[in-house]
Amino acid sequence: MLTPRAAVLVSGGGTNLQVILDKRGTVIKSGEVALVVSNKPGAFALERAEKAGIENVYIPYDRKKPEEFEQELERLLKLRSIDVIVLAGFLAILSENFVEKYPKRIINIHPSLIPSFCGKGYYGLKVHEAALERGVKLTGATVHFVNGIPDGGEIIAQRAVEVLPGDTPEKLQRRVMEQAEWELLPEALEKVFKELKEKE
Ligand code: GAR
Repeated sequence: MLTPRAAVLVSGGGTNLQVILDKRGTVIKSGEVALVVSNKPGAFALERAEKAGIENVYIPYDRKKPEEFEQELERLLKLRSIDVIVLAGFLAILSENFVEKYPKRIINIHPSLIPSFCGKGYYGLKVHEAALERGVKLTGATVHFVNGIPDGGEIIAQRAVEVLPGDTPEKLQRRVMEQAEWELLPEALEKVFKELKEKE
């Protein structure tokens, strides 16, 4: 493959998207970020993409009719010749039917050490609330391939982060981002790009 192209799917603030954008040309060298898609209107992540000169699109997502979002997404991914999909704070679950079309082509960042605090209902701050409630002393982040089981695909990379006395979900979320997510995700994307580039 000449230069693999990625689409980044987001739902909110987009700090993970930002590190991907910032690390283009340094950590991320074997492919390009061609598209950003949000399932939430007005997500700040869309502004980050706009600022970086990357095409950014909002596609409405209705939990009762996820196939409408997925059909539109698929159409756009084909039109833009996208090879890799990055879920970077994308807080909806893609259907089995959709993910089966992109085996080993979708990666997700999850803010815990899978298999702890993952699966349906564990997203964003809820993950850190659950970790604090359980009283774990170590948490972290995981990048994995996406398959039909929520947070169940092959693990690409993990990093542990300490839980400290006095942590709130917000404090812990920030530490997990700074010490794990923002390093792991760009590195994992480069790994996937590199493997694709060398393959064909
Ligand atoms: C991140 O912590 C990410 O790991 C998490 O949402 C946050 C998004 O932040 N994702 C999940 O919980 C997925 N199950 P961001 O929009 O600033 O990147």
